[in-house]
Amino acid sequence: MRAPAKINLHLGVGAPRPDGFHPLTTVYQAVGLYDDLTAADSDTWRIELDAADYIEPTDVPLDGDNIVDRAADLLAAHHGLARLGDVQITKAIPVAGGLAGGSADAAAALVALDRLWAAQTTDEDLLGLAAQLGSDVPFALLGGTALGTGRGELVEPVADPGTWWWVVVPSATGLSTPEVYRHFDRLFPDAPADPPPADVLLAALAAHDPLLLAAALHNDLQAAAFDLRPDLETLIERGESEGALRGMVTGSGPTCVFLCESPDHARSVAGALDDPDHPVILVTNGPVAGAHVVEYV
Ligand code: C5P
Repeated sequence: MRAPAKINLHLGVGAPRPDGFHPLTTVYQAVGLYDDLTAADSDTWRIELDAADYIEPTDVPLDGDNIVDRAADLLAAHHGLARLGDVQITKAIPVAGGLAGGSADAAAALVALDRLWAAQTTDEDLLGLAAQLGSDVPFALLGGTALGTGRGELVEPVADPGTWWWVVVPSATGLSTPEVYRHFDRLFPDAPADPPPADVLLAALAAHDPLLLAAALHNDLQAAAFDLRPDLETLIERGESEGALRGMVTGSGPTCVFLCESPDHARSVAGALDDPDHPVILVTNGPVAGAHVVEYV
């Protein structure tokens, strides 16, 4: 299986609900950074990890509480099956970066294990299990570009006819999503119950106009991320002064994304941002497919 990272083109956040989650109106886009996962028959349960050289393998928990363990537990319980399999994860999506890499792994695991166990889970049930695993996991199944509501788990595809070019700048150290949301609550005690809508963003996508999209990009968590990590604001100012149409923190950060006009433009912005503080700079595009089978043997 191969599953993509996501970025949030619009992340409207409302005041926390009674269950502690924040109501969202978000537009997700799947971009071409992927984790791969294979699942093979086994008499036991095992997860092995292989990671790109810019990922610290110790950042990925393999203590039995990886999101892939939880995905396997949920799917096995759903069908009354034993949790058996040999799972290999090859990570290329930066960890704890606001790119939903863990969610990509969970989505890939659900589909891979469904095949391995010949469980024939319905799409509706897979989306339901995905939502239990995390707010972003249903989107990782769907891919493309989608509007997310609820706490982000209710997803529906939206029109996005073009290809968008992004420079993605991960951070050496991650940011905790709950901590960023808590800081949002401190900064905005009067946040509205209904999150800001995504209409302007959706219109820019449908028109496939990069300047309109640049103006419409929106992230309500950015102020909180900047407060916790002032270096992010500096990075975004730098990317924009180097010619990016717009820079933004994605999700709860700390990864920053820069919208560019073309692959060449993206490579030139990436080159200009390259320095010892940012040893990893990725150029990618979206939208791309959600979690999908690459090879079935
Ligand atoms: O759903 P997920 O496990 O990805 O959420 C991680 C954490 O992020 C939650 O425990 C919560 O603190 C915060 N969160 C939130 N509102 C959302 C999504 C996530 O407060 N809509």
